Amino acid sequence: MTRTSPASSTALPSLPHWEAIPDDLPAAIRTIKHTLQRRIAASGRTVEEVFAVIEARVRAEVADIAAAKARGETVWPVIEYTDIAAGSVSAEQLAYLHRRGCLVVRGHFDRDTAAAWDRDIVDYVDSNRFFEKYRGPGDDFFGSVGSKPEIYPIYWSQAQMQARQSDRMATVQGFLNHQWRHESDGVQWFDPDRDSLYPDRIRRRPEGANSNGLGTHLDPGTLDLWMTQAYQQAFRHLFDGTVEHYDPWDASHRTAGPQYPGSTMCSTFRTFQGWTALSDMDHDQGVLHTVPIPEAMGYLMLRPLLSDVADDDMCGVTVNRVFPASQQWHSVLLEALTGIPDVKAGDSVWWHCDMIHSVAPVRDQKGWGNVMYIPAAPWCPRNEAYAASVRKAFITGSSPSDFPDEDYERSWPNRFQLDDLNAVGRRGLGIDD
Ligand SMILES: [Fe+2]
Repeated sequence: MTRTSPASSTALPSLPHWEAIPDDLPAAIRTIKHTLQRRIAASGRTVEEVFAVIEARVRAEVADIAAAKARGETVWPVIEYTDIAAGSVSAEQLAYLHRRGCLVVRGHFDRDTAAAWDRDIVDYVDSNRFFEKYRGPGDDFFGSVGSKPEIYPIYWSQAQMQARQSDRMATVQGFLNHQWRHESDGVQWFDPDRDSLYPDRIRRRPEGANSNGLGTHLDPGTLDLWMTQAYQQAFRHLFDGTVEHYDPWDASHRTAGPQYPGSTMCSTFRTFQGWTALSDMDHDQGVLHTVPIPEAMGYLMLRPLLSDVADDDMCGVTVNRVFPASQQWHSVLLEALTGIPDVKAGDSVWWHCDMIHSVAPVRDQKGWGNVMYIPAAPWCPRNEAYAASVRKAFITGSSPSDFPDEDYERSWPNRFQLDDLNAVGRRGLGIDD
């Protein structure tokens, strides 16, 4: 444990921080909670007052979402790709995107392209006899989805890499990155116009599938969100009595600090998580849901500091487990859980990296449920560091280091090759500047 220099916060108690997982977790949780409570109190406000500010903001959005649903309106923002490409997205659409923190991009790719990619993936795994070699789920988290591989641990198909390095993907990622504040205090926290091509997996869920889905959770981190110096600075307004200034779209201090390792971690900073649909999917067929309120992160960060939570409990958040959003602690937020509207192959779906999300269960699914996970992960120190390991995995056809080392594709001759990279792909992998 090291201490911040008192210069960074003259009047308030400085926060202890742990740049790696503490040896004694309960003791560290007690220490950080106690210090955060003292720090907020020293600002002249109680923890309850600060929490009430966030709670009121969030409750107003929960009510607005409920009212929109009652009127039969689509809660998720929907924007046409052609408007993004033409720069003609209206101010109203942008304001609504900020308010809801999630988006469906209609016609991001045309349906024929998406359908061809879907077939390409089938050919790729069949030609390499993937199903005969499949050894079962390589991690605990997606392993709970079912015993058949719905999540393919496949990273280097032509389809995935063509999508990742396409101009149309770069256009949407740039649009999304620009929704964040990426410069402050003379620091450019990330480059909104260069993506780091974060390689992730594929989901292909067949017609007739039964799936239990995935419970409500968050992906940006676990206890590190309260315990590392960088995150303490990123969430500074929640912890120093200036909660009104908390801005979920401010990337300050989020793009260089360490993260605690975990079985489901994402090493990179993502402005938005996302996937591209490779099949049509109706809204009631086991699709993605979010709590479409970016400010809810403030609620999640402050809730453990209230007096009804045990001293060594962060509302269930701990290392090596996904960050849970639970009925016990977050029932108000979960009232706003909202699924995507119907999507077509070639549409893409995006949600702010701090937002609660889940996948609904489905019985006897109608049609396929196929997606490529492709986020917006702009170039920044953290993503540049991860890109070095991505390059190695790409060259050898290995699983990227954020994922179990299943390495199915190393001997597959028809995987995407170095020579297939275009200028976007070369910059994204850090081969060219
Ligand atoms: Fe997730």
